[in-house]
Order: sequence, then structure tokens, then C-alpha cells
Amino acid sequence: MRRNIYLTGFMGSGKTTIGRELARLFHRDFVDMDDALTKRFKMPITRVFSEKGEDRFRKEESALLKRIAEKEGKIVATGGGIVVRKDNRDLMRESGRLVYLETTLDACRERLGDNEINARPNWRDLESVRTLFERRLPLYEEAEYPVSVDGLSPEKIAEAIATRLFPDERFTVHLGEAECPVLCTWDTPKALAALARGRKSALITDRNVDRLHGERYRRALTPDLALVLRPGEGSKTLTGAKSIYQQLLNNHYDRGHLLVAIGGGMVTDLGAFAASTYKRGMNFMIVSTTLLGCVDAAVGGKAAVNLGQAKNAVGCFTVPEAVVLDALALRTLSRRHIREGLVEAYKTGLIIDPALAVLIETHLSAMMAGDLPLINAAARMSAKAKAEVVGMDFTESGRRAILNFGHTYGHAVEGWHRYKISHGSAVAMGMIVAIKLSAARGLLAGGLSERLLKTVNALRERRVEWPPLEDAWEIMRHDKKIREGRMVFVLLEDIGQPALVHDVTYQELAAVLDKI
Ligand SMILES: NC(=O)c1ccc[n+]([C@@H]2O[C@H](COP(=O)([O-])OP(=O)(O)OC[C@H]3O[C@@H](n4cnc5c(N)ncnc54)[C@H](O)[C@@H]3O)[C@@H](O)[C@H]2O)c1
Repeated sequence: MRRNIYLTGFMGSGKTTIGRELARLFHRDFVDMDDALTKRFKMPITRVFSEKGEDRFRKEESALLKRIAEKEGKIVATGGGIVVRKDNRDLMRESGRLVYLETTLDACRERLGDNEINARPNWRDLESVRTLFERRLPLYEEAEYPVSVDGLSPEKIAEAIATRLFPDERFTVHLGEAECPVLCTWDTPKALAALARGRKSALITDRNVDRLHGERYRRALTPDLALVLRPGEGSKTLTGAKSIYQQLLNNHYDRGHLLVAIGGGMVTDLGAFAASTYKRGMNFMIVSTTLLGCVDAAVGGKAAVNLGQAKNAVGCFTVPEAVVLDALALRTLSRRHIREGLVEAYKTGLIIDPALAVLIETHLSAMMAGDLPLINAAARMSAKAKAEVVGMDFTESGRRAILNFGHTYGHAVEGWHRYKISHGSAVAMGMIVAIKLSAARGLLAGGLSERLLKTVNALRERRVEWPPLEDAWEIMRHDKKIREGRMVFVLLEDIGQPALVHDVTYQELAAVLDKI
């Protein structure tokens, strides 16, 4: 998953500029091999060639490549001639993915500019450069991922590389009798244009999303109406919904028109709620731009608004026309929002998908540092896993209850803090309780529970205080997750094997919490 990415191509194809841009997009380290070799030889490469000979240079270059190949997660701008040696080509393929920046010789010349050309003696004889270019072309073309670069900005090329390396993925979530397609993509504008099919549309988003990404969406949709909300839970109210109804009405929207809610869970919950109730339900789509949105809010067919302090108190089950998980948007998430999403994703991994749990355990620090391909892998796997469970139980009458792993105690923590702490922190604390209860009951092996606790502890915010048990117990007694007066907890027998229990006692909980 974190294999190196090697950019190859002729001199002047833009490897350094594009490499830097790709590293910035993916939040990964960038290595410029020519730069590193210049430093090693303490002279420009042209001088190394003339004073020490090409052979000596190629030897150093291969040695450097070997050192890079031992690492992972690097974006590497290689030298134009690295592909000449078969050993180098093999090593790059084994240790990473090979991207060829496809361009013409004329475009390379233009990109380098007169100053660069004059500084490189081999460019003075254009015919011999052309021969070199043509000789190397088949070697570059061996790369698995060719990407055309001409006429595109470095930013667009980096996005094109992302699309090439991580193609769109589609799956279906079954919501009762209905089916909803879910698309994970790096090219949301293209997906939106295709999904909207030129229909009259209204866009709902919030100010943050609009500022960071709005232009991409507006270009693709050209909506007749764009509603930009104040960010935060304060907008997710009946008053917020009323304002949306009114503007839709003023602008003559009908059920057959399209509402596109683009943002995190707040926007998509409110947008889905407003669309599902406006004129008894108009068409709507969701574009999720937060990790929490992708792993949880977007996939599941639940829409709601808050009623004062009561979160999600008024809502419905509903079916979007489509859900888009916007891979590119996740690049601007704060560390706090990545953490929030990862808590839910790890929860999903623990109850449904062991591979997802392991992915997060293995790469937690890279993910927290914003590694975009990894964050997207977690988003995709998590959404897919949740879709499976939702497909078995759309209206939460059975299987879907396992998604509450960590939520029984988590809600008590959140309630005790009067919702002033993040939901993710509360759920992480709830997961700690559930894992410890599972281990205390002998359901979960000691070694395994320690392993899981290590990850959950790394995900939770340490400063959040544990509530006194009496208070937490009282809150849980009034929680909607108590069925017929019994305390429902989701525990674990193994990763991917949740167990629903209804008989957790106060004493049992006290014994577990005593050890925290
Ligand atoms: N419907 C469901 O099944 C379900 C499930 C879980 C959570 N939820 C709801 O989801 C909400 C929480 O989710 P959330 O954290 O995504 O909410 P959010 O929409 O409030 O987003 C959090 C913050 O991130 C910002 N943001 C959004 N996209 C961004 C991006 N790409 N880059 C930078 N900033 C960005 C937002 O402006 C906001 O400030 C709650 O309202 C919760 O009730 C719903």
C-alpha cells in the first residue's frame, strides 16, 4: 500500500516538479535522485559525466536506488537515464510503482528553457538528443503507469497520476428494496457531470468545503442554486432545513430535479433530510468530503437534523440516487478530522473487516500525518464493509446493531461531557471499555486485546476525562440503545467477530473501569 512511486521520463519531462506536487498531494516524502547525486558528488551531473565518466555516475545512481528501494512511501523523481540498466528497472518494479511521464522531445526542450539547455552540453546537438530520446522510449514505455503530461499543470498531472494509480471503485449498497451506487473516485467533477446528466440541480455545501473545493464542483454541476451553509452542527436543524425548502421553492424546484449535498456528515445529513422531505422527496446525491462522512455518514441511508441538544432527533431512512466518496477532498482534512474518521474506520475493521483493522494498525502514524492514498484505502474499505452490514438490515432491526461497537459507553462519555468533546474520542473510550469487557469475559485473548487497545489508545484524545461510573450508567440507562431495559453491549470474540450481549452488569463494568 505504501510502495514507493518512481517517476521516470526523459530530461525535461517534469519529474522534479511533478514529483514535488505529487508528494504534496499524497502527504508523502519526496526524493530527487539527481539532486541527491549532485550533493554526493559535490558537483553538477554534467561535470560528473565529463570528469568521472557516465559509468561511475550510473554505479552511484544504482547504489542510491538500492537504498531508496529499502524504504517505503517515497515519491521518487529518478534521473532520465535510470531506465537504461535493466537491474534498475527491475528494482523499481519490485519496490514500487513505475510512472512514466509521457511527453514529446519538443515539449521537454520547451520545459527546460534556453538557460537549462545552454547549461547542458548534450543538448547542443539536437540530433544526438533525439537519438537518445528514441532509444530510451521503449524502456520508459515498459512502465505500468504511463501518464500524458503535455498541456497540463503540475497539479492536474499529480491528480491524473492519482487516478491512474488508484482507479475508480464502485460498489452497491442495498437499502431495503432499493440499491444505491457508491463511487470512490479521484475525479469527482467527472463523476458528478455524468451522474447529474444536465438536470436542473441545487448544490448544498458549507463554507469550508466551498472555499477549499467549491470551484471543482460548481464547474461540473453548474447548479442553478448554490446554498452555502455555516459549518458546524448548528446548521443541522429544522430551521436549516426550512431555509433549504424555502429556497428550493422560490427557485421552482420539483421532485424530479436534483439536490447534491457536498460536504461532511453535517451537510450530507441535512441535505438528505431536506431532499427526502421536500415535496415528499426529491432526487438527491451525496458527495462525501470527510473521512468520517465516507466511512459512516454517507453510506447507510440515514438522514437527520438535531433538535436542540438532542442529536439526530428528527430524521428518516432514505435512499440517495448515488453516493460519491471524493478521494481528492480528503487531502485538506485536519489531523483532528482524520482522527475522528479513523476511530470509526477502526471500529468497522474490528467488527467486520480484519484487513481494514490491520491496515490501520500498521499505518496509523502515516495516516495521522495525512497519507492520502492510505486514508482513502481506509475510507473505501470501511464504506464497503458498512454497506454489507447495512444491506442486511437497512432499518436497524437486527445485524446493524453491531455498528454500535464502542457506542454504548461512548454515548455515555459524550453525554456526560455535554457533547463538548469529539464523537470520535468518546467512541474510542467506548471501544476501550468494550475490548476490556470482551477480555474480562474470556471472549478475546489477552494478547489480542492488548494489540487492539494500543491502536485505540493512540487514536483517542488523552485529555478527555472518564466520567464517574454512576453517572455513565445512568446515561446509558436512558440511551436509545437500551432495549427492554437491558444493557446492550457489542463485544468482540475476535477481529471480525462481534458478539451482541444484553447482560452487562454494573459490577462487571466497575471491575473493568477500575483497571483503566
Ligand atoms: N447519517 C449517518 O448515518 C451518520 C453517521 C455518522 C455521523 N453522522 C453525522 O455526521 C456529522 C459529523 O460528520 P463530519 O465530521 O463529517 O461533519 P461536518 O460536516 O461537520 O465536517 C466537519 C468539519 O470539516 C469541514 N470539512 C468538510 N470537508 C472538508 C475537507 N475536505 N477539508 C477540510 N475540511 C472539511 C467542515 O466544514 C466541518 O467544519 C454529525 O452531524 C453526525 O451526526 C451521520
